[in-house]
Amino acid sequence: MSQRILKVGIGNAGLEVGTLWFEAVGGREHSSFQYSAVWLEHPRRFAIAPMLPLTTERRFFKAQGEQGSPLPAPVADTTPDSWGRGIIRKDTRFNKKGPTEPLTEFDFLTAVDDFSRVGALRFRETEEGSPFLATGEGGRHCIPPLLHLDQLGKAIASAESDDPDMVALRRLRQMGTTLGGARPKCSVIDNDGSLAIAKFTSRLDMYAVERAEVLALRLARLCGIDTPEARIESSDGLPVAIIKRFDRSAQGRIPFVSAQTMLGAPSATGATYADICDALRQYTASPRIEMRKLFRRVGFNILVSNVDDHLKNHGFLYASDGKWRLSPAFDVNPAPERFRELKTAIADPTRPEASIELLVDHAFYFEMSADEAVEIVRAMADVIAAKWQELAREIGMSRAERDDYRPAFEHAEADYALRKSSFRAE
Ligand SMILES: Nc1ncnc2c1ncn2[C@@H]1O[C@H](COP(=O)(O)OP(=O)(O)OP(=O)(O)O)[C@@H](O)[C@H]1O
Ligand SMILES: [Mg+2]
Repeated sequence: MSQRILKVGIGNAGLEVGTLWFEAVGGREHSSFQYSAVWLEHPRRFAIAPMLPLTTERRFFKAQGEQGSPLPAPVADTTPDSWGRGIIRKDTRFNKKGPTEPLTEFDFLTAVDDFSRVGALRFRETEEGSPFLATGEGGRHCIPPLLHLDQLGKAIASAESDDPDMVALRRLRQMGTTLGGARPKCSVIDNDGSLAIAKFTSRLDMYAVERAEVLALRLARLCGIDTPEARIESSDGLPVAIIKRFDRSAQGRIPFVSAQTMLGAPSATGATYADICDALRQYTASPRIEMRKLFRRVGFNILVSNVDDHLKNHGFLYASDGKWRLSPAFDVNPAPERFRELKTAIADPTRPEASIELLVDHAFYFEMSADEAVEIVRAMADVIAAKWQELAREIGMSRAERDDYRPAFEHAEADYALRKSSFRAE
């Protein structure tokens, strides 16, 4: 494969940020990135990730480890994960259009729909006036309205089957199904015109995962955690979680990077919350506030048994003046049956236990006193114990489904946090 070159743009106007080069030679892929003079001189310029400081230098990238991406990390954050890749691969195989396999990271990057691409980065060919990748005919986007949820559900079920419908695959590929993550999902235009994610039930799901995710996001909000609005709609009789996009506002696209990118970590696992605190100290305008936000999320994750808290399930949004802030919480999934071990350990990678005691013992990493830490987890445990069943009913969970999820909300760690309350009251 010869070298491929793209212009990297940012925001609604697609202002030129830099150039991306990509090369694949004999199965080995690498890339390089250089800021444009326009961006380096722009009054509101900022580094699109800490690993790419604002200099004229061209920087080179290759995959670190088996799971690593050969693309610069903030660019890799906009590429699909297993779900989106599966759709692109199947579409390429069944429809025999586009590049032939094996697909490269460049193919995955440029297959992502431009309108719904996560964050604010955009990509186009170097030729003057070429459209951003990927767009539909005439540069239009293909994101369906919520009204089409039934058809989308059917298309996703077909895409998951061994004998997928080719038209459905092609449509899905164009419709913003290529967001990150492993679960079946698609972008939709919500009734109020805003962009949202629709997360569908997978044929492999054993639990009411969509309702449980909406439940967790609603509980998180009651616990003082910033979350996107979320609700359940029905698609062809199955529940679909509709989650508002937090990287879009009335002003347009908001730059987003994963915590993995912010930390410059080689993979999504292996780091600690103490490492994220370091990043908060360096790259946010109000580290003490951000560290408290993070502490709350870790405590909440433990209390609702969300153990899929890897570095791609935490993110940062660009704030201003070169500073970032934690994005709202996302991908919070109560897991009643999972081994109670965090993907991101609290402070010591050899101690990944999902333990409230361990978290409180390490409050100083978050620049908090143990008393304040106890108070926060106690208050959250109170809210969860008082509200989870009522909210679960409201979201449409049957009694059997609530029973399935009980161990995610009622367990030794929750008891410990609640006991801490009576201990302090004595
Ligand atoms: N509300 C949101 N607004 C903007 N971007 C989001 C939102 N929710 C998720 N994302 C982005 O989309 C990606 C995939 O979403 P999410 O993590 O919820 O999916 P998933 O398939 O459940 O993931 P996993 O594979 O971790 O289980 C996230 O990593 C994040 O970059
Ligand atoms: Mg995820």
